[in-house]
Amino acid sequence: QNERDSQFIVSDWAKNHYHQRLLNTEEGMGIGYGYLKERGLNLSTIQIFELGYSLDAWDDLLKAATAAGYQQKYLEKTGLVVKREDDQGHDTGRRYDRFRGRVMFPIHNISGRVVGFGARTLKRDDKMAKYLNSPESDIYHKSDVLYGLFQARQAIRTEEVCYLVEGYLDVLSLYQGGIKNVVASSGTSLTEGQIRLIKRYSDNVTVLYDGDAAGIKASLRGTDLLLEGGLNVRVVLFPDGDDPDSYIRKVGDKRFSDYIENQSQDFITFKTTLVAREASGDPVKKAEAIRDVLHSIAKVPDAIKRQVFLQQTAQVFGIDEQVLITEYNKVVQSKP
Ligand code: CTP
Ligand code: MN
Ligand code: MN
Ligand code: MN
Ligand code: MN
Repeated sequence: QNERDSQFIVSDWAKNHYHQRLLNTEEGMGIGYGYLKERGLNLSTIQIFELGYSLDAWDDLLKAATAAGYQQKYLEKTGLVVKREDDQGHDTGRRYDRFRGRVMFPIHNISGRVVGFGARTLKRDDKMAKYLNSPESDIYHKSDVLYGLFQARQAIRTEEVCYLVEGYLDVLSLYQGGIKNVVASSGTSLTEGQIRLIKRYSDNVTVLYDGDAAGIKASLRGTDLLLEGGLNVRVVLFPDGDDPDSYIRKVGDKRFSDYIENQSQDFITFKTTLVAREASGDPVKKAEAIRDVLHSIAKVPDAIKRQVFLQQTAQVFGIDEQVLITEYNKVVQSKP
């Protein structure tokens, strides 16, 4: 049995521990389950995603794990337990649980093994980080994992599209609402590893990011990578202040599905109209905006698609197509 196996085993044990604490303790049922119910999640969703709760105590997990015979070493390596250091940064020998008083979201790899956790605080004040996540470990590489992919993978194949959202709750609400082909990047910008994962199941991605400025920026940033990966990328924007979770709760499953059906637009078309609008009336900005779009188009591996996008860009900016193509060739040549 090697290092990695031991880390998988203790992570799986911890997942069961938190799940049991959620459903079989007064605190878990009252506070943890109460919170999830308030967020609209039902028992079936909780079970499919194996959600849990960490008791609001210093060492509940540590004690239970030790009693069950797990070595401290692996609890530390997976980040479930943290070293207590003194002011000089020396190890005091004391240990405590990383996750306390939080709803626990186990993160599965594509074979369904738990590699890490996301954990949401239930406190409404802002002193504590809203989410705490497991650190990188021998079994957990953030950049190679998509939350929900294990549960979504069949549906992504059959629906022939993968919905990409930002957060844990977005995945859970959509899945419960019947949209099962959904995964989350967990707030970080997309990586090539995550894109390769999606590509194993579908060539089509629809990005459903939060309806705030940060969400739009994040989708602009991450999607060039998706294009380079050869994926067909569409985007759906939500009203400012809403994310997919809050929006599906507001309008219901049926209207939500209709909304993403009707509002989804091709990513390059979206980017073109967005930057064209922002640059309107300013020739210098307009030239920059056009080059920006041309850079995105250059990432599309399919030559026919590139041609269509070039025609469309010329139209949106109201410039001659031949001029645009000349400029496009320059952009491609100067590409780093
Ligand atoms: N995130 C994180 N650490 C933070 C904030 C966010 O890891 N301090 C990640 C989480 O995966 C989170 C995602 O980024 O789910 C999106 O963040 P945000 O939109 O702020 O949270 P929501 O998922 O919408 O959570 P909630 O609805 O509970 O506020
Ligand atoms: Mn890696
Ligand atoms: Mn957000
Ligand atoms: Mn949210
Ligand atoms: Mn959000």
